[in-house]
Amino acid sequence: MSASLATVAYIGAIILFILSLGGLSSPESSRRGNLYGMIGMTIAVLATVFGPRVTMAGIPWIIGAMVVGGSIGLYAARKVQMTQMPELVALMHSLVGLAACLVGFANYIDPMSSLNLSSAEKAIHEIEVYVGILIGAVTFSGSLIAFGKLSGKIGGKPLLLPGRHFLNLIGLLVVIAFGYQFLHAETISAGMIALTVMTVIALLFGIHMVMAIGGADMPVVVSMLNSYSGWAAAATGFMLNNDLLIVVGALVGSSGAILSYIMCRAMNRNFISVIAGGFGGGTPVKKFGGDAQPAGEVVAINATETAELLREAKNVIIVPGYGMAVAQAQHTVYEITQLLREKGVNVRFGIHPVAGRMPGHMNVLLAEAKVPYDIVMEMDELNGDFPDTDVAIVIGANDIVNPAAQDDPTSPIAGMPVLEVWKAKTSIMMKRSMAAGYAGVDNPLFYKDNNRMLFGDAKKMLDEVLVALKA
Ligand code: TAP
Repeated sequence: MSASLATVAYIGAIILFILSLGGLSSPESSRRGNLYGMIGMTIAVLATVFGPRVTMAGIPWIIGAMVVGGSIGLYAARKVQMTQMPELVALMHSLVGLAACLVGFANYIDPMSSLNLSSAEKAIHEIEVYVGILIGAVTFSGSLIAFGKLSGKIGGKPLLLPGRHFLNLIGLLVVIAFGYQFLHAETISAGMIALTVMTVIALLFGIHMVMAIGGADMPVVVSMLNSYSGWAAAATGFMLNNDLLIVVGALVGSSGAILSYIMCRAMNRNFISVIAGGFGGGTPVKKFGGDAQPAGEVVAINATETAELLREAKNVIIVPGYGMAVAQAQHTVYEITQLLREKGVNVRFGIHPVAGRMPGHMNVLLAEAKVPYDIVMEMDELNGDFPDTDVAIVIGANDIVNPAAQDDPTSPIAGMPVLEVWKAKTSIMMKRSMAAGYAGVDNPLFYKDNNRMLFGDAKKMLDEVLVALKA
């Protein structure tokens, strides 16, 4: 393929990626968005593999690597549960970071990469390598820790080392000092020493940064690492002089940054303080279900009584959360919704921006169950409607309906906007036990007079409610 044809293919791929991002902004167009992305990526890969910069001798190697990588990706995508998606995404981000590091090192030791460069061009190239490896290493180790935290392999509480900001500052100064040495290195081996020291510090920084963030701040971390992975790809594009990688990396980097900002706004948190870490670490966390004593009386309810309340209701709001994803209860939820709507009940869904474990988690599940988009509302759209609501059913959600966020300034989630389900005439909490949610904080909603607890697996209990409703 000639260089100009490859450039045209790249421009086509870039346009498709932009259309893809546009499509992903709404549930109605998200399938089309995904399709654009897939076509764009196919064009990009073909144009690169058969482009002017790959020799015939290299093609079998690339195809071999694609078969191995593609098979692992296919296997992981088929095997992963919906609830494990955020972990998989974090793991994928780590691979982008690792790739940026490896390309950086390979690029530095490859004599061809700086052949025929003037001294200014060589300095720019070396800065690209240094910065690319730096971002890549932070993304790699940070994403691995995020994977550990999201999958529960590492505890969710923030790790706050004494003088942690000071440690970070020292790390930054050392990275700058070694950057200077790297740019002035006489030999490749002297440069490699500086690069290696910087990489180790960047890896430690990535670990330290994500370990210091905990509880309900994790959504911001995931989208921030998404953004970093984009910048790592863009840096790789600069190293390899590949315009497509630069543009796509910048698209991912900036959309991840915008998402982080949106998440912070949704959580009423300041981006800098999230990155500085420590959220959820100050107050002792009360978790029930073990030896700890609950902080009040709760009123349990069974499926038949729940069906009775629903049958008599005119307005119902359903608030789904992580537990609905775990139980895979979305299809039964929709069957109940259909039944109630046929009886003239106004049923709507209230979606919190950080419900579940990834952005749009609940929307994806409800779309999968074919719930019409026009009854799926964002938190702000229906938070004012709870006082006119007869029954608010909370299905496996916890933090996102916790009144302590409004009432208790000492709560680790103080200030986070929540769905005000306790303002409904009756709220029903569906969960298996008295255990806390992701942020590990007790939920005073359980003990409110108008709240009822429907204990059990969400799918099983909703199946029983459905049977009772049909009876
Ligand atoms: P959580 O606060 O985590 O609460 C989920 C509840 O579901 C748990 O209390 C659990 O109680 C219940 N549950 C689990 N399995 C269940 C099952 N099979 N049947 C019935 N209930 C079940 O979830 P949420 O309200 O959706 O809030 C999301 C939290 O995750 C926030 O703190 C948010 O910051 C964090 N987070 C979000 C994201 C994104 S981007 N959305 C990413 C990372 C972290 P039992 O164990 O008693 O059943």
